[in-house]
Amino acid sequence: MSRKDFDHTFLIIMAAFYVNGGLLPVIFFILIQNGNGEECTKIRNNPHYSCLGRNLTYIPTSIPSSVEKLDFSFNWLPSLQKHLFPPLYDLQVLDLTRCQIQFIADDAFHNVKNVTTLILTGNPISYTSPDGLNSLHKLKRLVLADTGLLSLNVQLNNLTKLQELNVGTNMIQTIALPRFMINFKDFCVLDLHANKISSLKVDHTAVLREMKGNITLKLSSNPILHIEPGAFKDIYLKELNIQSTFVSFDAMRDGLKGLGGLHVGKLLIGSYKAIRKIKIPDADYLAGLCRIHFTEIFYRQKMSSPSNGHIVHCMVNATKITLKTGYMKDMEHVPFHQLKELYIGHQYLSAIPNVSHVHSLEKLVVVDNQAPTFHGLCGMPKLQHVDLSRNHMVIRECCSEYFRNTPNVRHLNLSLNANIWFSAKPFYGLELIEELDFHHTNLDIIGQIGILHDLKYLKYLDLSYTRTTFSSYLSFIGLKSLKILKIAGNIVLRYVLSDLFENLTVLEVLDMSHCGIDQISSKAFRNLQMLSQLLLSQNKLMVLDFLTQPNLQSLTRLAVDQNSISVISLNTLQNIPVNLSVFDISSNPFSCLCTQTDFILWTVKHQKIFPQSNNILCKTQSSDSKMRVIDFDIEGCVHMRRLTIALCVFAVTFLVFVSLLIYKFQFYLCYGYILLRGYRASRQQEWSYDAFVIYSSKDEAWVMDELVENLENGNPPIHLCLHVRDFEAGKAITSNIIDEGIMGSRKVIVVVSKHFIESSWCRFEFEVAQSWQVMERNANIIIIILEEVEEEKSKKVFGLHKHLKNNTYLKWSGNPINNMTFWIRLRKAVITRN
Ligand SMILES: *[C@@H]1O[C@H](CO)[C@@H](O)[C@H](O)[C@H]1NC(C)=O
Ligand SMILES: *[C@@H]1O[C@H](CO)[C@@H](O)[C@H](O)[C@H]1NC(C)=O
Ligand SMILES: *[C@@H]1O[C@H](CO)[C@@H](O)[C@H](O)[C@H]1NC(C)=O
Ligand SMILES: *[C@@H]1O[C@H](CO)[C@@H](O)[C@H](O)[C@H]1NC(C)=O
Ligand SMILES: *[C@@H]1O[C@H](CO)[C@@H](O)[C@H](O)[C@H]1NC(C)=O
Ligand SMILES: *[C@@H]1O[C@H](CO)[C@@H](O)[C@H](O)[C@H]1NC(C)=O
Ligand SMILES: *[C@@H]1O[C@H](CO)[C@@H](O)[C@H](O)[C@H]1NC(C)=O
Repeated sequence: MSRKDFDHTFLIIMAAFYVNGGLLPVIFFILIQNGNGEECTKIRNNPHYSCLGRNLTYIPTSIPSSVEKLDFSFNWLPSLQKHLFPPLYDLQVLDLTRCQIQFIADDAFHNVKNVTTLILTGNPISYTSPDGLNSLHKLKRLVLADTGLLSLNVQLNNLTKLQELNVGTNMIQTIALPRFMINFKDFCVLDLHANKISSLKVDHTAVLREMKGNITLKLSSNPILHIEPGAFKDIYLKELNIQSTFVSFDAMRDGLKGLGGLHVGKLLIGSYKAIRKIKIPDADYLAGLCRIHFTEIFYRQKMSSPSNGHIVHCMVNATKITLKTGYMKDMEHVPFHQLKELYIGHQYLSAIPNVSHVHSLEKLVVVDNQAPTFHGLCGMPKLQHVDLSRNHMVIRECCSEYFRNTPNVRHLNLSLNANIWFSAKPFYGLELIEELDFHHTNLDIIGQIGILHDLKYLKYLDLSYTRTTFSSYLSFIGLKSLKILKIAGNIVLRYVLSDLFENLTVLEVLDMSHCGIDQISSKAFRNLQMLSQLLLSQNKLMVLDFLTQPNLQSLTRLAVDQNSISVISLNTLQNIPVNLSVFDISSNPFSCLCTQTDFILWTVKHQKIFPQSNNILCKTQSSDSKMRVIDFDIEGCVHMRRLTIALCVFAVTFLVFVSLLIYKFQFYLCYGYILLRGYRASRQQEWSYDAFVIYSSKDEAWVMDELVENLENGNPPIHLCLHVRDFEAGKAITSNIIDEGIMGSRKVIVVVSKHFIESSWCRFEFEVAQSWQVMERNANIIIIILEEVEEEKSKKVFGLHKHLKNNTYLKWSGNPINNMTFWIRLRKAVITRN
């Protein structure tokens, strides 16, 4: 069985084994997910691999020996033996979190001996052989959190390079360090949080005292009952964390006293989480702090107490004080003489503490109070940073009235307050301000006149959501250093927009989201050569032609999501700033039509610059059908276009064909038309002629000499219609035939001869006459056979043969006696009315 097969079988056996424990679904999930679980992930191009959670029982051979960081957490290595690790001499960081490690053999880490960070969190280590960890001479950071350790007596004596030891969340009962740690010259962090330490005695700290380093000691979340006075006398620590450490309030009060004589850089006290409300036993519960030498203090405690207690009393020598989530109603007056930073958050202050006397103060942050009053600050030459945000305050006559003789204020944050009204010269004496934040605070005249013009060093201005209407184009006059301007959630009148930013030549970020803007002239950004971010989300823009403005070439990020854009023109796309790398056009009602293929192709090609490409959707009739613009079927458009072209070609061909047909058969068409017209024209017409003569012009001699002679000059004279003589000039022949000849005459005389048969005009005339006869139901055609025509030929003329068969006809013989009868019969036939 190969090794992989073995693993697999083992998995299944184990799975079966765990059925009763209800773990089956989890195990099968992992089986399906990982199969044999070999491959690990290379993290980008670093020599860094992750095999996290693959439930491996060995180190995969696919990991190269050059690996520097290996995350092997959540796998299955119950016993670390010598040959578990292949030679990985470059490995620096090895994470074996929760690998079920129980046993560590002597040479377990022989092949990874250059590791500097070893993480063994969450392994139920029951046995470590003496040299198991000791061979890691280069180890700097060792994490043994949650490994069931009972004491600090671990075999680490050879790890002289060790800097950080994390043994948090174990069952250690004392902070007494093994003697050999005195040799750990670089040691700086000892994390003992969440152990079982309940008392600290003088002899527990002997080694710590001798180490004399800049050690950070984390004792948080231990159940400390008692600290023996003197235990920390003359110990120097960089940082001491005793948050949530004392079992009771009394233990804390006494414990702080027990810490007397300690020198510490930063002291963290109170509780981590503001869950319990503690009743303060006496006002001096923090008195012990007076005996501790610290420069920085972090105090967080949630208390319910009618009295305040002397919270800052013993902090008089601190340089930085942070007070969080307490119930402090006002701050006692303490002569701080070196305080530089004061942070007070989440309190119930009725007034912003008056710290005007603290000349050393550089940074003041008082936030998250319920509408305290503010009486102002004065005479604070070093004050630079003032943050009074999130206090729901109302300030009238802002701001110079409140900051007198504070000439160095650079940062003023009054955001998330209730209302601020400005005085006539609001920033007089505050000319050095570089950052000004008023967002989500209702302001008055700021958009109507240029009240900010003194702030020539202002770099950052946030006026978002301040219920401001920018109605003056001078609102930002004089702000010649401004780099970041946020005015989202206000109203910018269209006519000021084109000049509002005229002189902000160094502006880099402009946020005008949610400002009701429906149109931006390209003039608006004409001087903003440095602009790199432009945010116009949630407006009503329909076109982006302002983007073609050549001065916007520095733009790298543009957001126009949630506007009303249906298409971006090709011209705009072609002139888009070259370095634009983030272009948010999501949530716009794009129209996906074959006419917009330029735009759609462009989006497909530039997908990587769209941060939310799944939200670039086509506008559809129903709101629940979602089609992405990039999924639009452009192929379909190509087919459609081909189809259209094919149809056009077909239509043209058809037209040409029909025209040819018409040209070729125009004669018959006219004929048909004439028939139709003639039929419609009623027969009430007066006859102009007695008979219309259809004959071939080659028989004209006979017609003129014989027919005309005999009929017209006889008695009564018969008026004949002859096309050579009677047709109206300038009228179409067909019309003449029908109007003058057939319609205008009572009878039609057809002179049949060989010439007649051969002439298409004659045939035509005869056919017209015949159809006329059919329609009028009159037998008005008189046929004269001028010369004998073969039957074959007579059949060529439509209807002639039939006519001759069914009707009597006259035959010209040239014989004078016969002619007599001929003329009589003819005359009779013409005259007879039927
Ligand atoms: C990992 O695999 C072993 C068998 O190799 C199995 O017993 C164990 O339950 C698996 N671990 C997890 C978290 O599924
Ligand atoms: C630890 O140090 C001792 C004394 O310096 C040495 O004898 C021993 O071999 C070292 N152990 C390991 C595993 O390097
Ligand atoms: C502690 O650290 C500070 C700076 O981090 C340094 O100035 C000081 O000398 C260090 N003290 C000791 C004892 O290493
Ligand atoms: C503050 O420092 C002064 C002198 O350095 C000292 O006398 C005083 O006791 C200190 N106060 C507190 C509360 O630590
Ligand atoms: C001002 O305070 C608010 C709220 O505390 C914070 O979110 C914002 O970042 C601060 N402004 C500046 C410019 O730091
Ligand atoms: C820009 O500066 C010019 C010259 O200083 C000035 O005339 C104009 O009013 C300024 N425009 C704005 C909008 O501030
Ligand atoms: C675009 O970016 C490149 C590289 O970062 C830079 O050299 C170039 O000047 C930028 N172009 C513009 C117009 O800002």
